Amino acid sequence: MVLLGGRLPAYQIKEKIVKTIASNQITVVSGATGSGKSTQVPQLVLDDMIFNNQGSEASIIMTQPRRISAIGVADRIASERCEQVGETIGYSIRLESKRSAKTRLLLCTTGILLRRLQCDPGKNVIINQKLAVILFYLVFIIILLVSIQTSHPSRMYLLTR
Ligand SMILES: Nc1ncnc2c1ncn2[C@@H]1O[C@H](COP(=O)(O)OP(=O)(O)OP(=O)(O)O)[C@@H](O)[C@H]1O
Ligand SMILES: [Mg+2]
Repeated sequence: MVLLGGRLPAYQIKEKIVKTIASNQITVVSGATGSGKSTQVPQLVLDDMIFNNQGSEASIIMTQPRRISAIGVADRIASERCEQVGETIGYSIRLESKRSAKTRLLLCTTGILLRRLQCDPGKNVIINQKLAVILFYLVFIIILLVSIQTSHPSRMYLLTR
């Protein structure tokens, strides 16, 4: 596989991200625009699971701030992995989704994540949002984190800039 993200800052601190994620239930990753938060971090989580023979159990869900970026990031990650969207990498937005039984990483909007919280949100939940928005919705996000951790013990990541 060609490591298209190999030169990005997120990829360069890959070991640190994977180690932090493995030893903590909640991880916050902060990085500048274009550093690889959206395209690299979920792949690091997925690849680490695959490396540890847990690929078939992977159920990673990552929010994007907008519907269009959920589709765009799913496209980009799938192409970096030389795949079509709807296979390992999928997306689900209001009225439209491209996913299959093979999907291990799902890009979605916050609204879809909230709906999924009522059933099973997945084992790895990645909330991807600007710090200003996270601060604005801080109380809401704390409630969300607590409810996920108590009802569905998942690993949680916040990607922010
Ligand atoms: N569709 C694409 N086509 C070409 N290059 C892309 C595409 N998507 C991402 N990239 C490249 O990958 C890099 C990382 O993008 P990514 O979206 O992961 O950054 P980010 O840290 O999430 O940025 P932001 O804070 O703006 O969300 C970008 O700098 C860009 O060079
Ligand atoms: Mg991003």
